[in-house]
Amino acid sequence: MANSDTAIVILAAGKGTRLKSALAKVLHRAGGRPLVEHVARACQPLKPREIIAIVGHQAEEVRAAVEPLGVQAVVQEPQRGTGHAMLVARRAISSRSKIAIVLPGDAPLIRTETLAALAKAHQDTGAAATILSAELENPAGYGRIVRQDDGSVAAIVEDSALTGEQRSIREINSSIYCFTLEKLWPCLSNLKPQNVHKELYLTDAIAVLRQKGEKVQAVVASDSEEVLGCNTRADLAAVDAVFRRRKRAAIMDAGVTIELPETVLIDPEVVVGADTRIEPGVQLLGKTRVGANCTIRTGSVLADAVLEDNVLVKPYTIVVASHLSDGAQAGPYAHLRDGARLEDDARVGNFVEVKKSVLGEGVKSMHLTYLGDAHVGAGTNIGAGTITCNYDGVNKNPTTIGKKVFIGSDTALVAPVRVGDGAYIGAGSVITKNVPADALGLARGHQINKLGWAASRRRALAGAGKSAKTRGRKKSRGRAKSRSPKRKRK
Ligand code: UD1
Ligand code: CA
Repeated sequence: MANSDTAIVILAAGKGTRLKSALAKVLHRAGGRPLVEHVARACQPLKPREIIAIVGHQAEEVRAAVEPLGVQAVVQEPQRGTGHAMLVARRAISSRSKIAIVLPGDAPLIRTETLAALAKAHQDTGAAATILSAELENPAGYGRIVRQDDGSVAAIVEDSALTGEQRSIREINSSIYCFTLEKLWPCLSNLKPQNVHKELYLTDAIAVLRQKGEKVQAVVASDSEEVLGCNTRADLAAVDAVFRRRKRAAIMDAGVTIELPETVLIDPEVVVGADTRIEPGVQLLGKTRVGANCTIRTGSVLADAVLEDNVLVKPYTIVVASHLSDGAQAGPYAHLRDGARLEDDARVGNFVEVKKSVLGEGVKSMHLTYLGDAHVGAGTNIGAGTITCNYDGVNKNPTTIGKKVFIGSDTALVAPVRVGDGAYIGAGSVITKNVPADALGLARGHQINKLGWAASRRRALAGAGKSAKTRGRKKSRGRAKSRSPKRKRK
């Protein structure tokens, strides 16, 4: 689909006043990406000679968002309207480009196929301009396509300039056009800033072309959703919802079950294998990859996570930049982060946090534990309440636990420290020295049982209480009521 005579121009210099934001409009996100990135990605497969983005507000950030996609950023400063933006583009467009596809950076739902069809319609008819229009239920805010009696396009009239009669027109300008450049360029010098914003409107070029007797056509988009723009926060939410729906549909097509799909959020680059089941309220973010036959239960959030096959993520579990191998399980309420790795069939349970640690095959750590900078050998059991004390206030230190080790509950492992294969650690130990293989490590106070101590204390306390009461009654006689009786200290 190479188009060596075509330039694509993305208009992305505007501020987006209606969003009431410090962030430039095209950098706002919908469907997990900045708006302008979606637009650039839709253009790429057309393989034009060049893709140019007109940038202005937060120019460097916008440039950084599009340059990796092979888009050349050109600065428009100040921003004097969409017509002015095309005048700026003119200086950057190669003389070998004969046709330009122009798109706004704030209409991110546009599909490559629709752009290809627009370009084809333009070339097939030899028009000077081909507008992508759409019939909208609620056209408010958009420029309208004004047609003559014979159906040909006469002009685009901006929402703010509509006559009462024109206001009922439902065919809107998407701001996506195809222009024959040698016809467009002379029209741009005719544009006048005669509108509420005192800007040069590209839309006015349509009437100028008509006055010059050029052919102008509007092609109605078959899916009007594709041209939705994002001028307001409500527009952003509506567009985001479309992206999310599209992504879920693609994931379900790949053989994945999603329960209550409208509650599930999946970023564009996420991949999920067949027969995986996703429960309500799950978020799969970033570059997360989920294998086949996994279950991701309700409320869990996975970001840049890798799950092999047959993994079970129980409710309300957070997995960030971590890897779960075949058959591993996590949750409920587990937190795996920053390079945690569970090998095959390893399990972590309630309120277990694992950071930058490897849990070998079949390791179990089921309750109330922190494992950081740790390496745990296969088959080891980590008791409830175990803590790796990995931070000494200055450095992070490693804990190395061998295979088939038993770590008793409430153990503190003061790193750096090693526990050899097959060792036992007694519950409640604070381990500061290495424990050899097959040894028992115990580091806690010896237990003393004082026989009868509790019973005699109870008797003593009961006796003291009785005598205080009787003393209180005697002494309170003839005394001011407000003064409470003093108890004898033991
Ligand atoms: C524009 C169209 C309107 C159309 C609508 C579709 C004009 C005058 N109006 O209106 O007919 O129905 O899009 O969504 O073109 N931009 C620049 N430089 C500027 C001004 C704007 O690059 O000086 C960029 C913006 O960043 C934006 C795009 O052009 O991405 C469109 O501008 P915007 O202000 O959103 O135009 P609308 O009012 O939506
Ligand atoms: Ca807009």
